[in-house]
Amino acid sequence: MKDNVILIGFMGCGKTSVGIRLSYSLKRTIIDTDKWIEKKQNMTVSEIFAKEGEQAFRQMETDCIKELINTADRQIISTGGGLPVKEENHVLLKALGRVYYLKVTPETVYERLKDDTTRPLLQGADPKARIEELLLKREPLYEKCADVIIEVSDKSFDEIIAEIMKEEGKER
Ligand code: S3P
Repeated sequence: MKDNVILIGFMGCGKTSVGIRLSYSLKRTIIDTDKWIEKKQNMTVSEIFAKEGEQAFRQMETDCIKELINTADRQIISTGGGLPVKEENHVLLKALGRVYYLKVTPETVYERLKDDTTRPLLQGADPKARIEELLLKREPLYEKCADVIIEVSDKSFDEIIAEIMKEEGKER
């Protein structure tokens, strides 16, 4: 197993923001699977969804993780919110490192993303209902995939980072 720290969780749970702060604390670089895919495809995630469809994007996510198993070590990997939905990705994520699930409430997600235009899955007429529906469906999969679950809705970044550092055996 590789020694990466992997962050999973629903859109808006703070994977990217936590990942960036964690990269300072752990002195590791960060890879974001969405950005990795965007760079490789030379398109934004929204463009990929519009032009190639969600299924094609999901295959790109699996390909990304497979490639990271060969190339990434001692890094932080922030994943797209839908990546753990495909159960075949669980084995791949576990091979890549320790999986931290940043667990968030639907209310917090809605507050954070109600004006967001970059998440194609939340652009419908009722984003609040969509968040609730998707989160309900995904929660068991995130939990199944996780080595560590961290509730993040009512915590500061400092508290979240401290919990992860403790798990990593590095108390601050
Ligand atoms: C998605 C989450 C997004 C991005 C895409 C699909 C999802 O990533 O991969 O829009 O299915 O939950 P973030 O979780 O970084 O927003």
